[in-house]
Amino acid sequence: MSIATQVRYNNLMSSFVIDGLAGKKTLKGSIPVYGAKNAVLPTMAAALLIKGETVIDNVPGIADVHVLAQIIEKLGGFVSRDGSRLTVNARDITGSVIDHTLAKTLRASIVLTGPLLARLGSVTFPHPGGDLIGERPIDLFMAGFKTLGAEVTETGETYTISAPSGLTGGDFFFSTVSVTGTETLMMAAVLAKGTVVLRNAAMEPEVVALADFLKSAGARIDGAGTPTIVIKPVSLVEPPPYSVIPDRIEAATFLALGALAAEELVVEHIAPHHLDAVVDVLLRMGVPITMSNDRITVRAPEKLVPVRVRTHEYPGFPTDAHPPIMVLLTQAVGESVMIESIFDGRLKYTEELVRMGADITAISPHRARVVGKSQLMGADIDTPDIRAGLAFMLAAIAADGKSKIGGAHLIDRGYEKIENRLSAVGVQIARID
Ligand code: EPU
Repeated sequence: MSIATQVRYNNLMSSFVIDGLAGKKTLKGSIPVYGAKNAVLPTMAAALLIKGETVIDNVPGIADVHVLAQIIEKLGGFVSRDGSRLTVNARDITGSVIDHTLAKTLRASIVLTGPLLARLGSVTFPHPGGDLIGERPIDLFMAGFKTLGAEVTETGETYTISAPSGLTGGDFFFSTVSVTGTETLMMAAVLAKGTVVLRNAAMEPEVVALADFLKSAGARIDGAGTPTIVIKPVSLVEPPPYSVIPDRIEAATFLALGALAAEELVVEHIAPHHLDAVVDVLLRMGVPITMSNDRITVRAPEKLVPVRVRTHEYPGFPTDAHPPIMVLLTQAVGESVMIESIFDGRLKYTEELVRMGADITAISPHRARVVGKSQLMGADIDTPDIRAGLAFMLAAIAADGKSKIGGAHLIDRGYEKIENRLSAVGVQIARID
């Protein structure tokens, strides 16, 4: 059965109700981390470069995967799911117009533009939607496509990129480091007629994973994981089954949970070396951590030490791990600083943490001062985005009293069955409609 017909629409009105631990540190057990949202989405897009079948394992059951699958099916592809295995058949991709409504719900839909342009010579799409975390322009994508010989036309909110006789080689410098920008141009470049060099490229593990996937299908890519990526022309073949890397943001969130409220929490099925910057912050805060091959064990300390955290492109501290770590800062004794250097709207959610009793002052759109330790109190909150949603859940777990967190569908975009995993380690949580 195709995935589009299997899609379970999440109830837009559902919420999570959490009974707080009132500061007690009683969570205990193991919590598994699933495949990375931000790795599986570009891999699904890359499958469109291949005239055949791509099998992807360790795929999380999250709403964003369903939405991207629906978009791919509207383009003539076929996506099926069997447990955590997803198969994308892109033999008959003919559509070059990305569904407007679906693309508006998913910023990551932009990654489809690279493969569609490379494969069909044209792509039409709206300015993609996504989280409310600040301005998210697409100027770098456009400039990159132009460097590869494409023509860009813009009608209102719709863009058409065309390169009827194929993309050319080229040398492109990203004036701002962009993760999906790097991924999209890397995919577009694989089928170009000449060598493409991407400079000041993103170095995130998801970029490296995408290059590894493309290489498994025959692509010639050097330098992924460094600022300069070189892509040589080639034609692709069906790759062997590919397994999605663990979600480092989910892992960071669970580590923050352990540091906040666990007697002992084992965060498992992870790649610890993707989490160096997060582990560094936790160690500086005085959190006891034990690392092994594919797991990290974490305990909540007696007292958390205040720190200065600055989000940064990889290998720096990830912006998506900022909201859960912010909750931890509210529990540190003394003054901490959070500098959000990537997104100018990301600090907005802290207003809700203040409502729960946190002492957070946004000094600018990029800097907040946090004074702790605060006793958080349960509250009714609606989440504006995936990552703020998890921060609210963490705050609700530490708080005194009951909290209701609305917008569960946003949390479902990035976290599979979060309530089951949290309740298995002792969180009192229920989903209600
Ligand atoms: N930017 C531009 N022009 C562009 C593209 C980006 O100015 O054409 C700017 C952005 O405004 C931002 C900065 O560049 O200030 C970095 O944004 P980037 O393009 O790297 O973000 P993204 O690729 O759209 C991905 C993740 C985000 C994550 C960021 C940063 C995916 C699907 N999304 O977004 O994940 O926050 O990188 O690491 O990979 C999330 O998962 O919740 C999420 C928002």
